[in-house]
Amino acid sequence: MRIIRKYLFSVSYRLFRFLVKHLVFIYQKISNRDKDLESIVEFGDKNLTWINNNLGSLAFNFTIPKGLETELFDLKFKSPLVAASFKSDENLLDIWMKLGLGGSTYKTVMKSERSGNPRPRLQQIRLEREQCLVNALGLPGSGIDIFTKELLASPLWAYNRPLGISIGGENVDEYVSNFNDIEKTINGNVPDIYYYELNISCPNTDTGSCIGDDLDVLEKLVEHVRVNCSAAVSLKISPDWTNDRLRNIGEIIQKKDKMFVNAGNTQFRTIESLGLKSGQLPRNGGGLSGVAIFPRTLEMIHVFSDINIKIMATGGISTVHHLRAARDAGASLFGMATALIMDPYCIPKINNDLARY
Ligand SMILES: Cc1cc2nc3c(=O)[nH]c(=O)nc-3n(C[C@H](O)[C@H](O)[C@H](O)COP(=O)(O)O)c2cc1C
Repeated sequence: MRIIRKYLFSVSYRLFRFLVKHLVFIYQKISNRDKDLESIVEFGDKNLTWINNNLGSLAFNFTIPKGLETELFDLKFKSPLVAASFKSDENLLDIWMKLGLGGSTYKTVMKSERSGNPRPRLQQIRLEREQCLVNALGLPGSGIDIFTKELLASPLWAYNRPLGISIGGENVDEYVSNFNDIEKTINGNVPDIYYYELNISCPNTDTGSCIGDDLDVLEKLVEHVRVNCSAAVSLKISPDWTNDRLRNIGEIIQKKDKMFVNAGNTQFRTIESLGLKSGQLPRNGGGLSGVAIFPRTLEMIHVFSDINIKIMATGGISTVHHLRAARDAGASLFGMATALIMDPYCIPKINNDLARY
């Protein structure tokens, strides 16, 4: 029964999601609104939270099999699966940790509260025979003050698994000040099991600068962060950059202690190239995620493993086969976002498959 539980729940989750998605889309069509996947995700998140509060251990408690432990510098991950940065809702992160993640990265935090881009800004599309997402959320969030307070009081520390803090900024000064504010507040006040992720890939915002485009500025930012904390630090890079640019970024990482790369973020696509209608995303396009971007993830892993950089692979991972291919190419940790939205029971499935073979 314990073995089939994850498959039963997985099928139920997918079926429920499928039904809700189609009902909401029909409602949106009848009421002449643009298709908007975000309403479905919000509805699903509320239901998951209710289930977690009332039936959490039955629905979500899965043991991480032995033998999956992965170390990165002084961080110990009980499983190499990690939530990629895309949610800060403690309830959802809690569910994924219960399901067996080895660690979680919070959604990128910006200085002030932001509502993000106008909706619709999240869509589901079928590519390469797989369901993928495209988003142009524009980094909505509560801002650094609320984020830091919640981080200090987070029940997730009790899992004793690494937590990633993803830092963003409109410009280099904002990155520096966001990092300073967080590090000043949490250092010594939370367990020493956190890492920083500098989200240097272009944010989906009109004003957002892309620190990764200017290597001198990036190097100064990295230097500042490296000198002012002892935590491991990763750079979250964009699959849209050329391999030469990735190597340049790799050289910056190589010069520093306890640094790794997260390869990588979403891939920018225009609405035309995705077959979407105008009005279905703001800014004429957005970041593609899910299985369709996996080939580029593999290429990026090769670029960084060739120069001996430690790698968290993110982008299109949803099965043990993706994970093995990424591991064989040189990655040691595996971030997931789209797969967790599509079916979070992929976590115990992958953990078990990994332990078995
Ligand atoms: C809805 C959504 C929101 C995201 N928000 C962030 C973010 O705040 N910061 C970040 O670094 N990446 C963000 N990402 C990118 C993911 O962390 C991940 O790098 C990307 O989706 C590729 O992984 P996947 O194919 O497993 O989804 C977001 C992705 C999605 C789908």
